[in-house]
Amino acid sequence: MKRIGILTSGGDAPGMNAAVRAVTRVAIANGLEVFGIRYGFAGLVAGDIFPLESEDVAHLINVSGTFLYSARYPEFAEEEGQLAGIEQLKKHGIDAVVVIGGDGSYHGALQLTRHGFNSIGLPGTIDNDIPYTDATIGYDTACMTAMDAIDKIRDTASSHHRVFIVNVMGRNCGDIAMRVGVACGADAIVIPEKPYDVEEIANRLKQAQESGKDHGLVVVAEGVMTADQFMAELKKYGDFDVRANVLGHMQRGGTPTVSDRVLASKLGSEAVHLLLEGKGGLAVGIENGKVTSHDILDLFDESHKGDYDLLKLNADLSR
Ligand code: F6P
Repeated sequence: MKRIGILTSGGDAPGMNAAVRAVTRVAIANGLEVFGIRYGFAGLVAGDIFPLESEDVAHLINVSGTFLYSARYPEFAEEEGQLAGIEQLKKHGIDAVVVIGGDGSYHGALQLTRHGFNSIGLPGTIDNDIPYTDATIGYDTACMTAMDAIDKIRDTASSHHRVFIVNVMGRNCGDIAMRVGVACGADAIVIPEKPYDVEEIANRLKQAQESGKDHGLVVVAEGVMTADQFMAELKKYGDFDVRANVLGHMQRGGTPTVSDRVLASKLGSEAVHLLLEGKGGLAVGIENGKVTSHDILDLFDESHKGDYDLLKLNADLSR
């Protein structure tokens, strides 16, 4: 193996740049040439590929987004798209690829490996919805951003004795909602993975008001319903002064936290070492503080399990 390619795919996540930097620097230190592929698999198929030097990834560890740009490209699920991508890899003499993205991106990495181009997947998504890793690159920063925003919402909520329903991202995963909900002292956290009872939440909010609490907060994961829809549900059970807020894409921006930068650096480095060992079709993650790798196929058979004990903890704390 002489040349590796690197791409970022799917929704961007803070720390993706730190991962690209780590892959580039470790690969160059080990005598490899590195090529950046812009716009994920779409750019691979289009041949948007350029050489990356060590200095090209300077000043990036603290920058959010992805300087390689990203795209969602379902066409790569088809054999035709894959063969077009393979042609480009051959044309540029690239032997192996590191793919940074969510689960859709892992399918692409697996297909490249199947076609003879070893590829390693790194978990780059704010959603934290990938199995066999305790955290994905970007999750910690997204939680920080959401926590910071909700702290501000709470300031105004208290001044007006209002209840706020806040939607956080996560697609079908409630991890951001649970972690941020606990960190912000939410009265209730609602996630797609577990049942919930709006009437019970309404009663809890009323009790909190009666006992003198000057604000209410319900954190609702976007995979459940919109904040507006939840607000309408809540109003069926009480005459609340309530507002709905959607935090949205701000959760994908912002300076990557120390955890995300270090995680991205560790996982990026490991991806290159696995490729140097001639391995492909693997997903790298962090489990109990150790960097691990698993067959990508195993990830498709497994679903991510969140720390659902946080729901019980929050219920105990918000009494
Ligand atoms: O996967 C990351 C994510 O931000 C999800 O949390 C969200 O549901 C989705 O992407 C939004 O996608 P888009 O940026 O395409 O609107």
